[in-house]
Amino acid sequence: MESLQFVLASRPIGLPVKGNFRMEKVVLNEPGDNEVLLKSWYISVDPYMRGRMNSAKSYAASYEVDQPIKGGIIAKVIESKSNSVSAGDIVTGTLPWATYCIENAENLRKVDVQKVSPGYYLGILGMPGMTAYIGMMKICRPLKGDTVVVSGAAGAVGIVAGQIAKLQGTRVIGIAGSNEKCRLLKEQFGYDEAINYKTTKSLRKDLALLCPGGVDAYFDNVGGEITEAVAANLDFHARIALCGQISQYNNTKPYIGYSILPHLLTRSVLLQGFIVSNYSEHFGEAISYLSQWLNDGKLKYTETIVEGFDKLPEAFLGLFTGLNQGKMLIKIE
Ligand SMILES: NC(=O)c1ccc[n+]([C@@H]2O[C@H](COP(=O)([O-])OP(=O)(O)OC[C@H]3O[C@@H](n4cnc5c(N)ncnc54)[C@H](OP(=O)(O)O)[C@@H]3O)[C@@H](O)[C@H]2O)c1
Repeated sequence: MESLQFVLASRPIGLPVKGNFRMEKVVLNEPGDNEVLLKSWYISVDPYMRGRMNSAKSYAASYEVDQPIKGGIIAKVIESKSNSVSAGDIVTGTLPWATYCIENAENLRKVDVQKVSPGYYLGILGMPGMTAYIGMMKICRPLKGDTVVVSGAAGAVGIVAGQIAKLQGTRVIGIAGSNEKCRLLKEQFGYDEAINYKTTKSLRKDLALLCPGGVDAYFDNVGGEITEAVAANLDFHARIALCGQISQYNNTKPYIGYSILPHLLTRSVLLQGFIVSNYSEHFGEAISYLSQWLNDGKLKYTETIVEGFDKLPEAFLGLFTGLNQGKMLIKIE
């Protein structure tokens, strides 16, 4: 049978462009022993994939030129030669950006989509949700009465991280890239304040006004000038969860900013970088709390769903221009 797939056509220099991706037709063999034929349903695009487009060695292996891009996918099992999954099951795994693929069943996990929307397993109940929980609860460790700042606040990780902080009895300030996102953060997601970093005259001064007692915990999704502005407002013994640096992912030269280290030194700040896959011992706890909070209506969530397999590259590129509110997903019928 025929499938469509996206391969890495060339490595990007700076901000990726559509030409770095190529859609092609492939013919699939019949599934062999313990293999299944899958039809992609929801495909996740995530900022870390930008790093995988480079050749430089990192924690996630580079994509190879002319080979399929891979990422988190929810798929329907069409045909199975495995005892562990059956036709009709819904599964998730790290799979090629393809309309159909053959995969070994050992690399798949069945998911229950009766009570939860399928995309949640790529978002709040998947890698971004684990990241929000672990970064906030194990690294920021918010205490009642603390002031917590979250950058990239309206994205997949940020929207959950801020709400988790609120559930701990803190005051939460979000930083995001549009007035609409700031409005949503306050009106729907319980943030106390939100600042549009694209229009403010001085993020540093805005934060000083909103956080007169200083910032006790900072969940950093973006880095760069935004983090410099937060660092200048940190309180003594503040904690920073260094989760992401999306403002730097397309740099062609090393970023030389204002050094935040003197602030960290003089205010005895604890900064912890983390890669969520290294914290798998907390996944069970994270899923249990996130599911409970969702069931109780204490945690709200949103997705930006782009329809159509051919839209994958532009949805991915949209992460770098702020096209998404909550988790960015591609849906294929
Ligand atoms: N450490 C880990 O294990 C781990 C796991 C998952 C994700 N992450 C990191 O966490 C961050 C958020 O990931 P996510 O999946 O939740 O993505 P996301 O926030 O859903 O999407 C990316 C968002 O980043 C913002 N952005 C893009 N370019 C920016 C810039 N130059 N300056 C400031 N903001 C910018 C945009 O929102 P605006 O409209 O607000 O600009 C965009 O919507 C990323 O840095 C990602 O790499 C880390």
